[in-house]
Amino acid sequence: MSLPSFLLLSLTIFLCSFNPFVDANHLIQQTCKNCSKSDPNISYKFCITSLQSDHRTQCAKNLEELGLISIKITRHNVTNTCDYIKELLEKKTRDPFIKECLDDCLDVYSDAITTFREAIRDYKAKRYEECNIKLSSIIDDSTTCEDGFKQKNDVISPLTKRNKNIFQLSAIALSIVNMLNKDKLNGTF
Ligand SMILES: *[C@@H]1O[C@H](CO)[C@@H](O)[C@H](O)[C@H]1NC(C)=O
Ligand SMILES: *[C@@H]1O[C@H](CO)[C@@H](O)[C@H](O)[C@H]1NC(C)=O
Ligand SMILES: *[C@@H]1O[C@H](CO)[C@@H](O)[C@H](O)[C@H]1NC(C)=O
Repeated sequence: MSLPSFLLLSLTIFLCSFNPFVDANHLIQQTCKNCSKSDPNISYKFCITSLQSDHRTQCAKNLEELGLISIKITRHNVTNTCDYIKELLEKKTRDPFIKECLDDCLDVYSDAITTFREAIRDYKAKRYEECNIKLSSIIDDSTTCEDGFKQKNDVISPLTKRNKNIFQLSAIALSIVNMLNKDKLNGTF
């Protein structure tokens, strides 16, 4: 962590800890417990680590705010992966098969960035069922990208770790959306 981001994180935690209505770490723990219980694909530890590592979650007052941040964390991860794939492609990749796979992943993830914009719009309007469909398609994108490389046995995907992160992050966001939708249907808010 760089010094400025460390200071920003410290300041955020400092400011939020004076707000008696915000107990972000309790909210994150509860949410991750519920997410990992309802979806076996979500690791509790991964959920805690990824939500706590973003300073914005320290000020999240409720599940709705946390959910939006989790979508944005996922989007950031996808955007960063697009940049990384472009870097790999510029290196004049040795193998034409790998190049083709990388091109396909870039297509899929570039479209996903547009999908995020719509998903966030749906989320803010509480259209959780539509938001669910969009986040599910992003989970599928990470599998599509990874599966491309599996068509040849002797090829190792350079994106495995990133695809796994995107898979988990979007599953967490989806799980939160489903919880909110349940609350909405139950008329809790
Ligand atoms: C987690 O689940 C419990 C039990 O269903 C519920 O009481 C609690 O409000 C949930 N917490 C969050 C943050 O969704
Ligand atoms: C877990 O991941 C697998 C593989 O993508 C998927 O088929 C399954 O539906 C997921 N489970 C849940 C509860 O989402
Ligand atoms: C993507 O998410 C993973 C898991 O939270 C994290 O370790 C990684 O640093 C993230 N990458 C970016 C660029 O946000």
